[in-house]
Amino acid sequence: MDLKRKAGEKVAEYVEDGMIVGLGTGSTAYWATMKLGELVANGMKIKGVPTSKSTEELARKLGIPILEMSEVTQIDIAIDGADEATADFSLIKGGGGALLREKMIASIAKQFIVVIDPSKFVKRLGQFPLPVEIVKFGWELTSSQVSSLGCKPVLRQEDQVPFITDNENYIVDCYFDSIMDPTSMRTALNSIPGVVENGLFVDMADVIIIGRENGPAEVL
Ligand code: 5RP
Repeated sequence: MDLKRKAGEKVAEYVEDGMIVGLGTGSTAYWATMKLGELVANGMKIKGVPTSKSTEELARKLGIPILEMSEVTQIDIAIDGADEATADFSLIKGGGGALLREKMIASIAKQFIVVIDPSKFVKRLGQFPLPVEIVKFGWELTSSQVSSLGCKPVLRQEDQVPFITDNENYIVDCYFDSIMDPTSMRTALNSIPGVVENGLFVDMADVIIIGRENGPAEVL
């Protein structure tokens, strides 16, 4: 079985009747949402808070009842993928461009479960370019201020036009050699005016599920 699928489907074991569930974005979280759709079809009563428009579309197709962010103050479980994760549960997220909503939803979850394939589990963060969501206004200046933190920011493009997030912002993907201190970097990035949010998720994940080649998914 696909290792992303193995990790994604494992979350079914954590979801209980009546829960409000944060629905993640990306190709691993996809499998979790698919599994939840199956549970709903079999009669489980859960409600989902999607982290992106694409996930909302998928959840609606699967018949998962949707709650708007404005309708919740707490979420029972948030489930999401990651671009990198370390043994101390620090993450880089935002490869799919949904980092702001993902972080908002994870931040109000009683339990945040991260689903990854083994390639995402790394010793130190920073090989994957760190996504940083910035406002369009004066983005060049914001990007140059971000670069002063020791990285090379590149405006994310799709088909040669800037990628626009669900919140109508840009993303710069920031190339570091490595990120030695994710906590300080997270704070430094968010203190630049024009930065909306960054993809460093520190002290947020409660469980990491890794899809393993031989045997069941590993739970950390
Ligand atoms: C989207 C994300 C994704 O969770 C992350 O990019 C991992 O995606 P995938 O499971 O497709 O590798 O943060 O913003």
